[in-house]
Amino acid sequence: SSRRFAVTKSPPPHAYPLAQLAAAASDKDKFLCLYPQLQEELCEWFATEHEMTPEAVQWIRDMLDYNVPGGKLNRGTTVLAVYRALQQGKPISEHEYAQAAVLGWTIEFLQAFFLVADDIMDDSQTRRGQPCWYKNKHVNLVAINDSFLLESAVFCILKRHFGNEPYYTELLELLLQTTQQTELGQLLDLTSQPQGNEVDLNRFTMQRYKLIVKYKTAFYSFYLPVALGMILAGNTDEASYQAAKEILLTMGEYFQVQDDYLDCFGDPSVIGKVGTDIQDNKCSWLVVQALERCNEEQKNVLRQNYGAWDDQKVETVKELYRTLDLPNIFAQYEEDSYQRIQKALDAIDLPRDVFETLLNKIYKRSK
Ligand code: FPP
Ligand code: MG
Repeated sequence: SSRRFAVTKSPPPHAYPLAQLAAAASDKDKFLCLYPQLQEELCEWFATEHEMTPEAVQWIRDMLDYNVPGGKLNRGTTVLAVYRALQQGKPISEHEYAQAAVLGWTIEFLQAFFLVADDIMDDSQTRRGQPCWYKNKHVNLVAINDSFLLESAVFCILKRHFGNEPYYTELLELLLQTTQQTELGQLLDLTSQPQGNEVDLNRFTMQRYKLIVKYKTAFYSFYLPVALGMILAGNTDEASYQAAKEILLTMGEYFQVQDDYLDCFGDPSVIGKVGTDIQDNKCSWLVVQALERCNEEQKNVLRQNYGAWDDQKVETVKELYRTLDLPNIFAQYEEDSYQRIQKALDAIDLPRDVFETLLNKIYKRSK
């Protein structure tokens, strides 16, 4: 039907594991059923169409296992939940479940791309309870290229499973746009402080903070899964995407504030990573809150201790945060934010359980 002569046609997908899907008890189990197939299809494609050696294919296989399926899978499973909620009780076939799951996996591959790259940029040590991918001796900066491969895999999966759907372009453009928004957010995040060791505390404002987290986290973590589920369910009402976006970006901000809090005060064995925000001179919610509350003397403590890879200095910053009562300020923020989102939900037309499931997954999370 199309004039795509210059690119290779995708082969049709393998048969979906329908019996396994039917037997899976939870959304998460249904979701996980599809991963081996996607991995297999990608490896097969690289080996046959792109002439990859057995060694290269094995590299990719291992790289995928290391980086893709090991997270909480909140984003991917949200696509399933949204799709189901939008059926309003109409039964869903295993084939439809499989499609929703595949679409969900595109976000988990995208997430893997972001995390592999982000850990290099932030000089992080651990992620999801294991060394960051680039920290492996045999990997090192090959991880940069692996992050690109994770990104391009998103579009292989999309084309193979949705290339013939009338809404393919919609999905494609949404994924491309969201990737770009996240990269712009990453730019704001990385450049919130000038390079070098001078710390300019004036740059840590709430206004800048909100912009960073909207772009680096909220679009891809909250709007994207819901919008993909809506497209798959055939929703063509523009206003409902706008309404959903507004509320989801608020939830995204809340999620990133939690992430910032956990980076400093979370238990590394629970969150699966050791925080680096203070060392990395990051425009974290905590430093913005601290600045709104501290006197000149405390400001100097911040200036002299923030943004250094020095355990003593990091501890001094954390002590200041405790002195300023930030753990309680955070608990209060969490409560307020939850109430605000609930209120906003009262005014929305879309099935409330979509948003409620999402909110309850993240409310008072410890990881
Ligand atoms: C943790 O998600 C991730 C975040 C809080 C978002 C951080 C944003 C980036 C890493 C953007 C990086 C962008 C580029 C372009 C490199 P999670 O707690 O859901 O993690 P999980 O998947 O391990 O559960
Ligand atoms: Mg980062």
